[in-house]
Amino acid sequence: MSKKQSNLLIEALKTQKEIFGDELYTKIDMNIKNIAENIEPPAINKEPEEAPVISIKLSNDYNDNEIKKPEIKLSGFDLSFQNAKTLEELDSQINSCTRCALGNTRTKFVFGKGNSNADILLVGEAPGAEEDKSGEPFVGRAGKLLTDILKAIDINREDVFIANILKCRPPNNRTPVPDEVATCIPYLKKQIDLIKPKVILCLGVTAANGLLNQKNSLIKMRGNVYEFHGVKLMVTYHPAALLRNPNWKRECWDDVQKFKKLYLELINS
Ligand code: URA
Repeated sequence: MSKKQSNLLIEALKTQKEIFGDELYTKIDMNIKNIAENIEPPAINKEPEEAPVISIKLSNDYNDNEIKKPEIKLSGFDLSFQNAKTLEELDSQINSCTRCALGNTRTKFVFGKGNSNADILLVGEAPGAEEDKSGEPFVGRAGKLLTDILKAIDINREDVFIANILKCRPPNNRTPVPDEVATCIPYLKKQIDLIKPKVILCLGVTAANGLLNQKNSLIKMRGNVYEFHGVKLMVTYHPAALLRNPNWKRECWDDVQKFKKLYLELINS
């Protein structure tokens, strides 16, 4: 396979990953089977008329077979952060965290930023390179697009709170692994307890699956209203995915219109 073909394949797989998460299902295709190195051929199916479904591993950093639902693992950790009364207090209690290995590779801990009384909480995946350097969420190109998306529905970035599932950057911006999510998510939950938002918008499949503790595709989740500890939650594309696939902006526009409608209903009820 030429370099160009392999780049095309990688782009196509990234695109699929944005909407399906870590599990990518596809009908088997002999061409793909021949060129994708780490695809295990499926066992011969008992129902030959059905095209077999295979799962492709997209992250190099962990084995897909080991993916399990993140569980909240609190035992053995210092839980005093649970007593924090303000976001500032919480930040100072957790920002030197080394509960997972990312604590040793990060430059800065990215606590999140915004209005501590916000009605709207936006949740992304994890800090990228720019955020790791600056200590603030969504400051790169994806962050600029996020600001524009909010403006399009008449919402100022300063009025919302923006946080991530993970507070530290995974090396090479790889997808967070379930253990990292399970370890870090109590911090986000505490932030939610303190902020008490009326609505949460998850940016991308990792944020939604992390908060809802499930493994669903973006396609299935878009447009639905979920509940997280009594707070309404919706899901749309991650802005970085929109930068890679501008065709999805139209769908994101639909999502954020619905989100705005839900928000207005909630604040006016
Ligand atoms: N992507 C995210 O998910 N979060 C950030 O803070 C930046 C990029």
